[in-house]
Amino acid sequence: SGCGAVEGERTLAMIKPDGLSGNYTENIKADILGSGFRIIKEIQVQLDAERASLFYAEHSGRSFFDSLIKYITSGPVLAMVLEKPDAIAQWRALIGPTDARKAKTSHPNSIRAMCGLDSEKNCVHGSDSLESAAREISFFFGDADSETVEHDEL
Ligand code: PPS
Repeated sequence: SGCGAVEGERTLAMIKPDGLSGNYTENIKADILGSGFRIIKEIQVQLDAERASLFYAEHSGRSFFDSLIKYITSGPVLAMVLEKPDAIAQWRALIGPTDARKAKTSHPNSIRAMCGLDSEKNCVHGSDSLESAAREISFFFGDADSETVEHDEL
């Protein structure tokens, strides 16, 4: 997006409550920077149930929804905007499969293998599409993050 420069794509990364409380933040950031991402923005917030339900709205019909909301509001999360070419897919590759038990066997070098436990306590989140990334970045950082829009409008 933007004015054609190759500054890369942006994705929303989130360290979940178990990642923060387990003191994995520095290790996760080391993996992020070591993999060539730039951390453009970051904010630590405590979500309430209403905000969390908005963030995970697409999963509101799932059997695990109430449990997911309880977990994600159990402590603060650290949201980050990561930038790199192909950032969305690259970040999801780095974090590994949703189920951290699978990550430990099939993707032992992934972030979820390092700090996750299962499909719920999987310590990190990554946007799954351009549309999700735009929505999730706005969710945490607002639409003030619109340098690309400003360029597009020139
Ligand atoms: S699916 O089926 O592909 O839509 O599910 P998935 O994308 O793998 O997971 C969506 C998010 O829901 C979380 N999740 C769960 N939470 C609690 N309990 C269970 N059983 C469970 N299964 C999946 C999962 O961690 C995903 O969260 P995010 O933050 O999007 O990674």
